[in-house]
Amino acid sequence: MNIEKKILKNHSLKTSNTLGFPASAEYFLAVKSESELEAAVDFAKQNKLSVRVLGGGSNVLMAPQVDGLVIRIDIMGKRIIQTNAEADILSKEAVSIVVGGGENWHATVEWCVAQGLSGMESMALIPGRMGAAPVQNIGAYGQEMKDIVVKVRAYHLETCAFVVLSKGECRFAYRDSTFKQAPGQYIITEVELRLSRHQDDNVRYAALQSYFAHKGINQPNIKQVFDAVCAVRRSKLPDPEVLGNAGSFFKNPVVTLAQFQKLKQQWPDLIAYSESEGYMKLAAGWLIDQCDWKGKRAGCVGVYEKQALVLVHFGGGQREDLLQLAKDIQDSIFTTFRVQLEMEPQLFPTA
Ligand code: EPU
Repeated sequence: MNIEKKILKNHSLKTSNTLGFPASAEYFLAVKSESELEAAVDFAKQNKLSVRVLGGGSNVLMAPQVDGLVIRIDIMGKRIIQTNAEADILSKEAVSIVVGGGENWHATVEWCVAQGLSGMESMALIPGRMGAAPVQNIGAYGQEMKDIVVKVRAYHLETCAFVVLSKGECRFAYRDSTFKQAPGQYIITEVELRLSRHQDDNVRYAALQSYFAHKGINQPNIKQVFDAVCAVRRSKLPDPEVLGNAGSFFKNPVVTLAQFQKLKQQWPDLIAYSESEGYMKLAAGWLIDQCDWKGKRAGCVGVYEKQALVLVHFGGGQREDLLQLAKDIQDSIFTTFRVQLEMEPQLFPTA
């Protein structure tokens, strides 16, 4: 395969990161198959170029100049599988699907909802692609990637071989996984998910409950949950096509029960959810909001006016501007609450 002809030089990545920061890749290739991916990695090895993998660019803080070869996974395909071997362990209503790493996440959710499959409907409108979803174990409104993953197929850069990781091997945790812990080592090409024709009880979130109460819907079906999530997200999260952003910019910090109780005494309105035994997850948006950051602007970047957890780029800025704003917010939260906020998007390249 003559891959060299397809590789672009000094390619702009401005539209390949949802924050819309200006960036240029020394070499760039969108790969459409696993064999193209192998050929691209070979090319990089022969030319001693580092390999960086980009998905939908919705969770990255892009450097202005990216050296080496940037590979974007454009491997497509969605199919329903249900092998006989699996029939025993599958409940009658479970359905497995296999999705290419390049497929758009939201379009896949929409496709599953149209097939009457439940398990992803609450994760509607999360930007990005299928291959990136396991990396940070995306989640919203009670559903999480880890609950539906069966296995993940990826190219392992160190051993130059395709590997299949079971759900256990993915070591999923809140916005965390094997892939996030080993940045740049795995290139996800395909994901197998297990969905259900039976809908789980996922309307525990206040924002969804009030949406359904307002509409007079008692037992929403899969499509109604999907529509509700889309409406709620559109009402408080900015569309990256209109305003540059990377979704939640900070993780919700996890603190000990003792630290939570101390904070709650001082801040009775503090919003928190139980995380695991002895730990609580604090609503970072609430913390940032309390420190009056919501709607604040610092030049070309700022804090979104309707959701303090989302940082935005108005245009004309660089990632350094956003990193400075993030640091100012982290310092202010630490001074007020003695809680350290951790950034959710990853630096690109990672080092
Ligand atoms: N809050 C405020 N002020 C704000 C923002 C939030 O007081 O400016 C309060 C809200 O009123 C609410 C609480 O904080 O009581 C939590 O806010 P919300 O329900 O909007 O959820 P979140 O914790 O901010 C998380 C995920 C989102 C996901 C939503 C819904 C993280 C870091 N973020 O946000 O995921 O959509 O829950 O499940 O876990 C993403 O990761 O990019 C993302 C958007």
